[in-house]
Amino acid sequence: MSLPLLKIGVVLSTMAMITNWMSQTLPSLVGLNTTKLTAAQGGYPDRSTGVLPANPEDSWQVYSSAQDSEGRCVCTVVAPQQSMCSRDARTKQLRQLLEKVQNMTQSIQVLDQRTQRDLQYVEKMEVQLRGLETKFRQVEENHKQNIAKQFKAIKAKMEELRPLIPVLEEYKADAKLVLQFKEEVQNLTTVLGELQEEMGAYDYEELHNRVSNLEERLRACMQKLACGKLTGISDPITIKTSGSRFGSWMTDPLAPEGDTRVWYMDGYHNNRFVREYKSMQDFMTSDNFTSHRLPHPWSGTGQVVYNGSIYFNKFQSHVIIKFDFRTSSISKSRQLDYAGFNNAYHYAWGGHSDIDLMADEGGLWAVYATNQNAGNIVLSKLNPSTLQIIKSWTTNHPKRSAGESFMICGTLYVTNGYSGGTKVYYAYSTNSSTYEYIDIAFQNKYSHISMLDYNPRDRALYAWNNGHQVLYNVTLFHVINSEEL
Ligand SMILES: *[C@@H]1O[C@H](CO)[C@@H](O)[C@H](O)[C@H]1NC(C)=O
Ligand SMILES: *[C@@H]1O[C@H](CO)[C@@H](O)[C@H](O)[C@H]1NC(C)=O
Ligand SMILES: *[C@@H]1O[C@H](CO)[C@@H](O)[C@H](O)[C@H]1NC(C)=O
Ligand SMILES: *[C@@H]1O[C@H](CO)[C@@H](O)[C@H](O)[C@H]1NC(C)=O
Ligand SMILES: *[C@@H]1O[C@H](CO)[C@@H](O)[C@H](O)[C@H]1NC(C)=O
Ligand SMILES: *[C@@H]1O[C@H](CO)[C@@H](O)[C@H](O)[C@H]1NC(C)=O
Ligand SMILES: *[C@@H]1O[C@H](CO)[C@@H](O)[C@H](O)[C@H]1NC(C)=O
Repeated sequence: MSLPLLKIGVVLSTMAMITNWMSQTLPSLVGLNTTKLTAAQGGYPDRSTGVLPANPEDSWQVYSSAQDSEGRCVCTVVAPQQSMCSRDARTKQLRQLLEKVQNMTQSIQVLDQRTQRDLQYVEKMEVQLRGLETKFRQVEENHKQNIAKQFKAIKAKMEELRPLIPVLEEYKADAKLVLQFKEEVQNLTTVLGELQEEMGAYDYEELHNRVSNLEERLRACMQKLACGKLTGISDPITIKTSGSRFGSWMTDPLAPEGDTRVWYMDGYHNNRFVREYKSMQDFMTSDNFTSHRLPHPWSGTGQVVYNGSIYFNKFQSHVIIKFDFRTSSISKSRQLDYAGFNNAYHYAWGGHSDIDLMADEGGLWAVYATNQNAGNIVLSKLNPSTLQIIKSWTTNHPKRSAGESFMICGTLYVTNGYSGGTKVYYAYSTNSSTYEYIDIAFQNKYSHISMLDYNPRDRALYAWNNGHQVLYNVTLFHVINSEEL
């Protein structure tokens, strides 16, 4: 059985090559090149450079270094003076087009990065599989001696590796899709090449449509490759040691590029001051922060900062408040119907942790329990503007015996406790409305976890562990239907 599996490793390397290929080829699709390009007002192409001749003053320019040190593509667009630009509608269109391609390049970077990270994990598996193969060979060679012992070791290893087989199968499916995607991009390259040949009759509209279409596909591809099932949690990294035993901290998954402001809430009870650190770096190295005073104190550690607002459970109530940091005011407040509060249905560690708000790739969620569901976890998707429940799911997991819970890609993961050895052991998929028991251990370094939440932007788990702010990376495996692309 080991040989077919080893072949999957080859498929995986092909995937890495393809993502790499995409990030290098896409810029050139629309004429980006390592050479400086200019294009603008003229009607006919300069065949010697493949682009239109132009005065740099009234044209836009694109610089595209082939790769940065990590092999990613980097583009820089220098726009012409505004007055010139607005005079030429075509220039404007082309500039927008280029901006789109630039955005696309960024998306591909993310795709590439995420795929690479998963590949590392799979490579580790491959090493294990290779080890198994060696063992098999040894058994063949010394089949007379120690045969029973060897077989026992192999059997144990097989048991360990068995769950990985479907995971590897999924990767194989992904690889096929990426191949198909590559073919489409190649088709587009051909079309764009032809269009460039006929610069005079350049159909911006069509070019624009094609690029938009490609962009859309890329985003869909990225989203799907980014999402998946939790299969591993890394060792923790301690970012900071501060605050009391209980608290929560986070970054905003929808913050603009480069905004890594850290939000920090110490304590679970009757506090209303939120600290804002300028960046993750600032948070790690300084105690320089801005303080925001909320109009009401919070309960528990279930707050979430999402798209510039903090959502929290108002002290001693089942009211959820959305407080906008930009305007420093409450933009919405709504009761979460039937939700238990005031330690009716806290997590195992207590601390008024009845209502836990969180965000994943799909949006904003509330985890709580109701009398109607006998104190078991209820999961509701919330409209981030109105705080209305979009849809609810009832699980069979008692809220009070859950350590913590977090959402990834529409699946709720529940841990077995807050102290001692911890693991993620229950998963409820909102996609299929089914649950399963899983076993993903993670290190509880400081022995008391009072907050654990996933951030889809970093693909990391943020935890508050006994006065330490720690991060874990997660490994996700993807399930993609071939019809979906
Ligand atoms: C970049 O453009 C120059 C001139 O148009 C061309 O000779 C060269 O082959 C191009 N390079 C790539 C990588 O497309
Ligand atoms: C490129 O991305 C930026 C930031 O996400 C966005 O503001 C802009 O509208 C995008 N441009 C295009 C042409 O999609
Ligand atoms: C690419 O173009 C060829 C020929 O036009 C077509 O047969 C093929 O289906 C296209 N591939 C994709 C993925 O669109
Ligand atoms: C602290 O932050 C403020 C505002 O962001 C800044 O003006 C000040 O220079 C910072 N002080 C230090 C020591 O970093
Ligand atoms: C984030 O907020 C902006 C306005 O501030 C809004 O346009 C956008 O739709 C919001 N995004 C999400 C996902 O809620
Ligand atoms: C959602 O469920 C459908 C079938 O119920 C399945 O085909 C699909 O792969 C699932 N998607 C995810 C992301 O789990
Ligand atoms: C997560 O992975 C990234 C990229 O590999 C790495 O830079 C970062 O240190 C990791 N974080 C943790 C908590 O392991």
